Amino acid sequence: MTQLEDARKTVLKASRSYYAHLGYYEERIYSEDTNRRELDFLEFAFRTHAIHKVRDVLDVACGSGRHVLGLAHRGYRCTGQDYTPEQVQTSKARAKREGVSVKLLQGDATRLKYESEFDAVLALRILFLLPDDDSVLTCLRQVHRALKSGGIVVCNIANPFYDGENWFSLKSIQRGHYLNEIHVPGMRWLSIDRVEDFDPIRGVTWWQETPVIETSDGVHIYRLREHLRLFTYWDILHYLQAAGFKEIKCYPDWKIKPPKKPKAEWLVFVSRKE
Ligand SMILES: C[S@@+](CC[C@H](N)C(=O)[O-])C[C@H]1O[C@@H](n2cnc3c(N)ncnc32)[C@H](O)[C@@H]1O
Repeated sequence: MTQLEDARKTVLKASRSYYAHLGYYEERIYSEDTNRRELDFLEFAFRTHAIHKVRDVLDVACGSGRHVLGLAHRGYRCTGQDYTPEQVQTSKARAKREGVSVKLLQGDATRLKYESEFDAVLALRILFLLPDDDSVLTCLRQVHRALKSGGIVVCNIANPFYDGENWFSLKSIQRGHYLNEIHVPGMRWLSIDRVEDFDPIRGVTWWQETPVIETSDGVHIYRLREHLRLFTYWDILHYLQAAGFKEIKCYPDWKIKPPKKPKAEWLVFVSRKE
């Protein structure tokens, strides 16, 4: 096995373990309002950027299903996949509970086999988890192939130049640690995160995370590692173009109108296959 393949396997293994343990709790952090706002944005992107009416949607890293299930409720034919089997199980259980029909599969976002099947493909909060340049490009090329002509991709990254404080901001990474506490009904999540290896040339970092999660069934403490890549607007523009996408629009923080102050935490890209 080459060194690169070895490194990829290490990243995938760590990511799978991270989401197998934390996926269920992570989903609970997103409020109904946030989910509704993101779904409204996706429908806006479908109406505004796709040439034909969007019916068939693929989510290449659907997590526990907040976008695919939400879109299925709104009448779209949805397929969701995720590398972590526990995440697929959670989304299947949710779909069953909510009585909504979605095709859900286990799969790697860099091994998509689809060809001209979808009107829209979502790659949300996944590109910065992929291990290297090659994987990002492979993923976006396969997304391009999976789309029908006139269909759109919606993908996003956390903005390392965000001037507030979050787990992804350069401020936290340079300082070497990040402490955070989140309260949502029925759950308190205290996170103690430490930067393990920050490579400022390649923009790659490993986080050593110790989440302490209090829920009604007790206190759960984990110690997990996550590999992250810092991308800028220009990186994603470059990858999308290299994958064959031409017209590329960026919507900071899922906002349809340009925000007054350009300090977005998230950059959301929408682009069409010609
Ligand atoms: C941050 S969550 C995002 C979930 C969802 N897209 C969202 O925006 O809420 C990242 C998801 O990507 C999955 N993942 C990580 N590497 C993957 C890969 N190579 N292929 C497919 N899914 C992957 C993880 O299991 C996790 O569920």
